Amino acid sequence: MSTPIPQPPGVPLLGNIFDVDPANTWWSLKTLAEKYGEIFSITALGHRIVFVASAALAEEICDEKRFRKFVGGPVVEIRYAVHDALFTAFDHEESWGIAHRIIAPQLSTEAVGGHFDAFLQCTDELLAKWHGLGDNNKIQPLSDLNRLNLEATTLTLFGKKLNCIEGADHPMLAAMENSTSEAMKRPTRPGFLNWLVYGSKFKKATKVMRAYAADLVKYRQEHPTDQHDLLWSMLNAKDPETGKALTESQVIDEIVSMPIGSSTAPCAVTASILFLLQNPDVLAKAREEVDAVLGEGPFRQEHVPQLTYIAGVVRETLRLSSAAPGFNIEPIPKEGDKSPILLAGGKYQVAHNQAMIIVLPGVNRDPAVFEEPLAFRPERMIGEAFEKLPSSAKKWFGNGKRECIGKHWAWEFLVITTAKLIRDLDFEAVDPDYKLKQDGWFNIRPIDFSVKVKPRAR
Ligand code: HEM
Repeated sequence: MSTPIPQPPGVPLLGNIFDVDPANTWWSLKTLAEKYGEIFSITALGHRIVFVASAALAEEICDEKRFRKFVGGPVVEIRYAVHDALFTAFDHEESWGIAHRIIAPQLSTEAVGGHFDAFLQCTDELLAKWHGLGDNNKIQPLSDLNRLNLEATTLTLFGKKLNCIEGADHPMLAAMENSTSEAMKRPTRPGFLNWLVYGSKFKKATKVMRAYAADLVKYRQEHPTDQHDLLWSMLNAKDPETGKALTESQVIDEIVSMPIGSSTAPCAVTASILFLLQNPDVLAKAREEVDAVLGEGPFRQEHVPQLTYIAGVVRETLRLSSAAPGFNIEPIPKEGDKSPILLAGGKYQVAHNQAMIIVLPGVNRDPAVFEEPLAFRPERMIGEAFEKLPSSAKKWFGNGKRECIGKHWAWEFLVITTAKLIRDLDFEAVDPDYKLKQDGWFNIRPIDFSVKVKPRAR
């Protein structure tokens, strides 16, 4: 006999629509995970979704022999903007393999390491901006870190300086926010409302994002270069398996997908600043390492792998902030077999085609894996302690073949930015009692977290 999967009581006909705030879905899911534990379900607009929030169950449904990415809900909605691109392709679509084989080599550890100077250049620009703020400033670091991320993504992957760290916000930032928020909300509304009331917002954001991508292609055509970067591969490389190249429209789809994916990274850096402020002993250790490895000299690519404590800080931040809040899984269909899927050795049972979502804020704080899960302890993310963790407790970049293709880029960005910020700056929380509260769509960010920033006192 299997145990029923817990579900909040809900209301007749409408189900659990009042249990999930459409303006902050992931915070609601985190709260439900805290209440219901390893597994729970909700029903909304006639659809049932199962949520998995423990490391053991996540381990089970990350088994690619039984399960695969579920392309549904917001992921299908964002296809309006990027069609069958890497993030949004259905399992059966040939486009995924073609794009993956063309793009992955340009996002390997080695390839992103080759962009070190560009990363540093962008970070230095942000530091110069913050150094210039004078005393008594008050900033929301996320806003400038979003700019930094867009600048670095565009320069390293597509070879163009946007110069968006200073000045007005680049329109791409609002377009990404509007398109992803809309993609998250659309599955929760009746179709006619999406079409009638919200359609134009989605259309406008899509237009802006595709114009950003088209501009980069045009710029490259007008400024040819020998540099074989990601844009070069998108425009020229052929998939070694099929011999196919990306079509013009697919190039735009994949370009747009990169800053959307990458926008998770500044959320993590912002959370790092908060966690370091709340844990002065960790900040002191991190600084000690940065000072010892970098010394007074220039920061170079070979320093990145030497920053092992910073690596722990970054991983512990990814765990505790869940900058990417979760991902979707479904059972791999078996021809003619509609028998239920058993989980945890039969303890739970779900339908053969049940959509499931891994709620990372639950999995990443599973007390069965992490002692004092809410404590910020980089030590558990270093060396043997890190190796010993179950793989499901390290899923901040997703799973298996659909794991984040930008994870090495993200790593480089996170380590360089964290090291530079703590080496050169002092932060002070505007509200010393600030408690982490997050919202977001495809990424999760601290809400209203403000700091004062000044040159580091040595
Ligand atoms: C801290 C930073 C990042 C985190 C935590 C993160 C997390 C994730 C996760 C969890 C997935 C799996 C989504 C799913 O299964 O539906 C994913 C996929 C993806 N990410 Fe990232 N990501 C980050 C940075 C980046 C960057 C920097 C890029 C681009 C340069 C990127 C591009 C993508 C793409 C294109 C996919 C889809 C891959 C595929 O399905 O083949 N991400 N990411």
